[in-house]
Amino acid sequence: MDVHAGGRTSTIWIGEGIADRIAPLLDAHKVGARRFIVSSPVIWRLHGAQIQRALGGGEPILIADGERFKNLQSVSRIYEALIREGADRGSAIVAVGGGVIGDTAGFAAATYLRGITLAHVPTTLLAQVDSSVGGKVGVNHALGKNLIGAFHQPAVVIIDPLLLRTLPRREFRSGLYEVVKYGMIASPDLFDRIAGNTKAIFARDASVLGPAIEESCRIKAEVVSQDERESGLRRILNYGHTVGHALEAVTKYRRFRHGEAIAYGMLAAADLAVARGALADRDRQALTRLITQFGPLPPVADLPIPEIIDAIRRDKKVVHGRLHFVIAIGIGATTTVDDVTEDELRAVLARLGLKSG
Ligand SMILES: NC(=O)c1ccc[n+]([C@@H]2O[C@H](COP(=O)([O-])OP(=O)(O)OC[C@H]3O[C@@H](n4cnc5c(N)ncnc54)[C@H](O)[C@@H]3O)[C@@H](O)[C@H]2O)c1
Ligand SMILES: [Zn+2]
Repeated sequence: MDVHAGGRTSTIWIGEGIADRIAPLLDAHKVGARRFIVSSPVIWRLHGAQIQRALGGGEPILIADGERFKNLQSVSRIYEALIREGADRGSAIVAVGGGVIGDTAGFAAATYLRGITLAHVPTTLLAQVDSSVGGKVGVNHALGKNLIGAFHQPAVVIIDPLLLRTLPRREFRSGLYEVVKYGMIASPDLFDRIAGNTKAIFARDASVLGPAIEESCRIKAEVVSQDERESGLRRILNYGHTVGHALEAVTKYRRFRHGEAIAYGMLAAADLAVARGALADRDRQALTRLITQFGPLPPVADLPIPEIIDAIRRDKKVVHGRLHFVIAIGIGATTTVDDVTEDELRAVLARLGLKSG
């Protein structure tokens, strides 16, 4: 499928086993006369041999992954390798990894020589359904997450669900919550398919997982094609992220995997919507059931509500002092409201089990 954004087209390829066909796919899209792979030691140990074979050799630039290393120092290490190897305007970066590698390598590609071609081979579920699509790249600053970045659309994204077989269960689950998010914002069918096939999905049965990834990418691609820079529509992708980001920030990105925080955020948004009479309680219950089915989430009972509210206020989603909050009005439909009061938020967070006062 194609994503049209920033005056160019990115093509997303999804298929079982296509990681073996990276070179011809890159050739078909004229990606780089010279290709520089950026990956991490963990990913390379698991999948390096296959990727190297598929790309016809070449030493990768390995940077440590983990949120801690998504910073300018890692970007600088990529620049260094590129400069030493004489990478030029005609070169391309092929990012092989999860969201951390994709965002970091993507930022290097966006800025090296004012921008070289980028291709993504995402290896986590979160990267396959979310971070590799849409062109946001960037790194963290010591003072905050994702503060340094750019829009740089990849020429190609190559998604092979088989690469997910080695993904730890918790990482897999974390990505799955984002798939649930796509169901909530745009596709009752996707929602039902996950709810009805949880076992096959957790078994990473590609015949069920592949279509769910495809549907997720389609939704993100459509939204991004209409609103690359998040001036309106793209905000619906932030469903569950208002409270989710605050939970991550308050716990210093250590307690939750991203998707886990988003799971809480979606529950909070659904509760808020029910309290406002915008969502039927049975839809909220369906969401709660699905999230509960995946297994327990990290605890939140010790997190003070005022700290979460402060973190929400500092978030990028506050525009001209007003908090934009995406709420679901049914499974597969959302609206944005900007008149959520602190009292409402407090009540929602208390019902979610956070600590008052
Ligand atoms: N650019 C965007 O639009 C966007 C969207 C959402 C999230 N993000 C970013 O993505 C990042 C999170 O990405 P993530 O969840 O993929 O985390 P990650 O990149 O840290 O990967 C998670 C872990 O999985 C391991 N791993 C990766 N692939 C594996 C595989 N196939 N088998 C076994 N282990 C594997 C990694 O080594 C790592 O330890 C965050 O920094 C977030 O800000 C960006
Ligand atoms: Zn997210």
